[in-house]
Amino acid sequence: MFLGIDIGTSAVKVICTDGTAIHASATADLAVQSPHPGWSEQDPQAWWVATCAAVAEVGAAVSLDQVKAVGLSGQMHGAVLLNAAQAVLRPAILWNDSRSTEDCARLQAALPEIGTISGVLPLPGFTAPKLMWVAREEPELHAQISHVLLPKDYIGLRLHGDLATDRSDAAGTLWLDQGARDWSAEVAYASATAPDWLPRLADGHEVVGQITASAAAETGLPVGIPVVAGGGDAATGAVSLGATEPGRGFISLGTSGQLFVAGDAYHPNPAKFVHAFAHTVPERWYQMAAMLNGARPIAWLAGQLGISAGDVVALAESADPTRVPIFLPYLTGERSPHGDPHIRAGFFGLEDTTSRAGLCRAVVEAVAFTFADAVESFGDTINGLPHLSAIGGGSKSPFLLQLIANTTGQRIGRTVGSDAGPAMGAARLAACGTGAMSLSDLGQQPEVADWFDPVPTAALDARLARYRALYQALKTLH
Ligand code: XUL
Repeated sequence: MFLGIDIGTSAVKVICTDGTAIHASATADLAVQSPHPGWSEQDPQAWWVATCAAVAEVGAAVSLDQVKAVGLSGQMHGAVLLNAAQAVLRPAILWNDSRSTEDCARLQAALPEIGTISGVLPLPGFTAPKLMWVAREEPELHAQISHVLLPKDYIGLRLHGDLATDRSDAAGTLWLDQGARDWSAEVAYASATAPDWLPRLADGHEVVGQITASAAAETGLPVGIPVVAGGGDAATGAVSLGATEPGRGFISLGTSGQLFVAGDAYHPNPAKFVHAFAHTVPERWYQMAAMLNGARPIAWLAGQLGISAGDVVALAESADPTRVPIFLPYLTGERSPHGDPHIRAGFFGLEDTTSRAGLCRAVVEAVAFTFADAVESFGDTINGLPHLSAIGGGSKSPFLLQLIANTTGQRIGRTVGSDAGPAMGAARLAACGTGAMSLSDLGQQPEVADWFDPVPTAALDARLARYRALYQALKTLH
């Protein structure tokens, strides 16, 4: 058995698998703190507490003594700052935090070629500009930094005691030279970061440590079993779907949204904020459109209406499609394709007759429209893919997947266990670390359980055009 641990934004998810079937799974919820507009933070200790709780719940269902290795996955880009004693200096600054906007402009001016080194232009979600913000706003704290880790690697530190990361998560910092698959001292120096603060780099299946006695006591995991480096949640989601092989693509519908296509060469495309990043497995890269709001607007509206996300989708389905306002879903700004940390969400076209169902449909449609924008930003790279797999919590909704097929023109395939994606990918990397699976086995694709073929309609196309025009009209009004 192999354990996959995914440090998400809304929950930690842990699964126990033989590499194919899931034998037990558990989630422990997390909260996000936003002490100022545009800030998004979490306490790394909360990740650890949630990890211990979710591992214990899995341990109540299956014996943890059977676990042969652990793999890690996590929300990308977050900055976990540690002092020389490896103690956490401040709450982690997350992937959807926009405080470092002006630092991005400074970084780009200092290093105009950064888009081709780092695979994407500077945006506040990435890790490097966060360090520039800390240097500017919290200089005394900045002076104490000795190590910078990504969220899953902080959990790695707690599990095995070492400072390590994998190349796919390193890719999302801006400090990785994507073509060379190694840290760029040039980018580090330009962003208030000493290169020796950065952890050791590994590929995702490489063993980076063993469960320590104290981690075993806290989690119930066997002492001494290997922990592999794992990957950022985009890359581990890919591993769960066999998207380690070139030309395979998928969409992820979680707290964030992703359109991901694997390749065997590094092709930067910075103009549309498509990310060109190193994959977690050797000799692979990927292109990704990252949408900051994913399926989250559905959960947000559910919270406001006091109903479940499932109820929002059911109401959306029941709405009269001719009486639906347009919703811009940018609750936390947008990365791909706009690169716009300032834009915010809003309804347009509300009428006296607008119903709850109409509001719900506008929000669900907007999630689909972000994927239409993502597909467009990829240009020709997307043509010729046989289909896009779908993973993440939002993939539970056939209505949403059909809307995405209709607005993107892409065939969508939902695989068995699609909501376990990144944790499953992490567990498969752990299986590779022990030799139970080979890197080429990772190309195995899970069976597609449901297909969604595009049925474009003129009415939906017209609404997509209005949605796009609305962003253009509003983007200067922040
Ligand atoms: C990817 C991204 C998010 C986070 C959180 O670039 O920002 O997907 O990894 O899931």
